[in-house]
Amino acid sequence: MTDFCAEKSVWYGTSRVVENCRVADETYRLSLKIHEPLPEIRPGQFVMLRLPNHTDPLLGRPLAIYRVETNAGVSLLEVVYIVVGRMTAKLAAVSPGTKLSLWAPLGNGFSTLAAPEKMPNHTIMVAGGIGQTPFFMLAESLLCKPQSHSQQNGGRCTLLYGAKTKARLACVDDFQRLLVDVHIATDDGSQGYHGRVTDLIADVCKPSESTQILCCGPKPMLRSAFNVAKTRQLPCYVSLETPMSCGLGICYGCVVPYRVESDMGEVWDYRRTCTDGPVFDAYRLRW
Ligand SMILES: Cc1cc2nc3c(=O)[nH]c(=O)nc-3n(C[C@H](O)[C@H](O)[C@H](O)COP(=O)(O)OP(=O)(O)OC[C@H]3O[C@@H](n4cnc5c(N)ncnc54)[C@H](O)[C@@H]3O)c2cc1C
Ligand code: FES
Repeated sequence: MTDFCAEKSVWYGTSRVVENCRVADETYRLSLKIHEPLPEIRPGQFVMLRLPNHTDPLLGRPLAIYRVETNAGVSLLEVVYIVVGRMTAKLAAVSPGTKLSLWAPLGNGFSTLAAPEKMPNHTIMVAGGIGQTPFFMLAESLLCKPQSHSQQNGGRCTLLYGAKTKARLACVDDFQRLLVDVHIATDDGSQGYHGRVTDLIADVCKPSESTQILCCGPKPMLRSAFNVAKTRQLPCYVSLETPMSCGLGICYGCVVPYRVESDMGEVWDYRRTCTDGPVFDAYRLRW
């Protein structure tokens, strides 16, 4: 069964597992085939995945879109996930051929639409845990597409990637193949810098370049990256991993406090992570 919501360009239907392979400790790359072209996907958008005919768990789960390609009307979409609970544990056991319900693409994604001359020259992507996943398509679009940021103005792209331990690092070579400048930090010092990934920001920031900081990962890491950005007065956008129910803006289960201008001056309101995010201007969030 497929359905297409033209207003928001969200595709809903059944996808089939092509591959579900282990890429790091507790971490898997899942490739899904969809026998239709998907609506256009922006880096940083996500999918909701659900096991059809299962009520445990009842709700779908959000996962960032890692990569997508469409050939001859058939789409191949990849997500990379880490096993943390019920859905991801079940997902790790699915074999090729299994059907999964999918709705995609969801959320706003990163803004890559600015004219190349208005794009910051240096994009620093700060990832913690499984937070590297929304950045692969972003790096592709910044570094590889004709007319892209780097092709137009020599822009560069850095990934600062922190994990508990070396065995948890996933997909690093994908980024290196794109010529992203990758710096690793691990909590136990088993690879790269021994300590917090956000300590690395200062090393790669050059005052001579216009720089933006984009982050995805656990909240303390986001807060710490934002503090560095604020001190240096740099633009900072964060992709939140707020738990979700519908993914479509209907249930309001994913709201986060968000600072807005109103007749009464600046006030706190709320925004839905699934439709207004997951990417937010860090300066408007409550830390
Ligand atoms: C936009 C978006 C993109 C995401 N992209 C990815 C991705 O690419 N790869 C990936 O592995 N994960 C990603 N996540 C996180 C992923 O959705 C959760 O890990 C997943 O829903 C867990 O489902 P589960 O049934 O396995 O775990 P559950 O059984 O639902 O939860 C397991 C444990 O984790 C806790 N928990 C679950 N979710 C959260 C949360 N968000 N914050 C704090 N605690 C939580 C629960 O309380 C519980 O203790 C993303 C989340 C969002 C919102
Ligand atoms: S998850 Fe339902 S409104 Fe966001």
